[in-house]
Amino acid sequence: MIAETDPQKMYRAMQAKLAGVVPDFELKIKSEFAAEINRLKVEKNAVILGHNYMEPALFHSIPDFVGDSLELARRAAQTDKDVIVFCGVKFMAETAKILNPRKTVLLPSEKAGCSLAESITAEDVRELRRRFPGVPVVTYVNTYADVKAESDICCTSGNAAAVVESLKTDTVIFIPDEYLARNVAKATGKHIIFPTADPRKKFEDDLDYQMIGWPGRCEVHDKFTVEDIVAVRKQFPDVTILAHPECSPEVVAASDFSGSTTAMIRHVENTSAARYLLLTECAMGDNVAAANPDKEMLRLCSVRCPHMNQITLEDTLESLRKNQYVIDIPEEILKRAARSVERMIAIG
Ligand code: 13P
Ligand code: SF4
Repeated sequence: MIAETDPQKMYRAMQAKLAGVVPDFELKIKSEFAAEINRLKVEKNAVILGHNYMEPALFHSIPDFVGDSLELARRAAQTDKDVIVFCGVKFMAETAKILNPRKTVLLPSEKAGCSLAESITAEDVRELRRRFPGVPVVTYVNTYADVKAESDICCTSGNAAAVVESLKTDTVIFIPDEYLARNVAKATGKHIIFPTADPRKKFEDDLDYQMIGWPGRCEVHDKFTVEDIVAVRKQFPDVTILAHPECSPEVVAASDFSGSTTAMIRHVENTSAARYLLLTECAMGDNVAAANPDKEMLRLCSVRCPHMNQITLEDTLESLRKNQYVIDIPEEILKRAARSVERMIAIG
């Protein structure tokens, strides 16, 4: 975080961090927004949480805390500020609200959704429970509050296997990310079925299943392929490839490391490979490159997450000025969702 409220000083501080990543004319404009955001943040007693996928000029300037979904949920649970401005997507801001029902939680854009959160409804979860009575439901945090409310426990990419193992049951329903579920099944030695992906297929064929998945996908991580990895390794045999667990199991298997966004960042910080390639959202590669100027980062990134991309310094400033967009969750849903989020936070 850069705490400056003076636009000139903010510009120089951002330039020192981002000169190689963000064009200078852009830094000039954005540093003015950032300085004003810092002033308003103090005036309104607000805390700004920024996900690792925020664009570099935002990520490296205004957030009090940056991190992956799990770290930001923990930060949200601990804050004593009156207002939480969430520079991330809607499901993350909702998680902050679930953990802080009496505080104002603001999301700077109404359009910051998520393809995974859109892939499943609360009624879908109720239907799964009817089909598999008594089987606990583990729900990835990339879902909306009403889906969390139907669940037993939440998880993030950083603790998914630990959460599944903590339940100590024969079978779990794991929703809604197909690839994360497959990766967790592999890590925990479980056999997974997808009964809803093809309703005509009889799942009785798979009698020994221990996980029941759902066919949701992240529209960004779905784009990386094993062919991409083979081509990069051919050109750069000494590359270290890191893949987010929302990538397919084949892509994860062909990579050198897989973990949450923060786990990937730590891996780059704590190792000394000749060069790195991150298979995740584009902006994070720029953020890691800016923070590690001595490390060589390859780029294989043509898609920004269209939802994370909605959050800009301009909109964050408007959010603080106009108190928008307020996250509101019906009390009854919030209470039930809180049980599954708090149960996750207790596990770690
Ligand atoms: P992390 O929890 O690893 O930051 O992932 C969030 C996300 O949306 C990845 O696409
Ligand atoms: Fe959702 Fe994928 Fe965007 Fe993450 S990167 S917010 S999972 S669409």
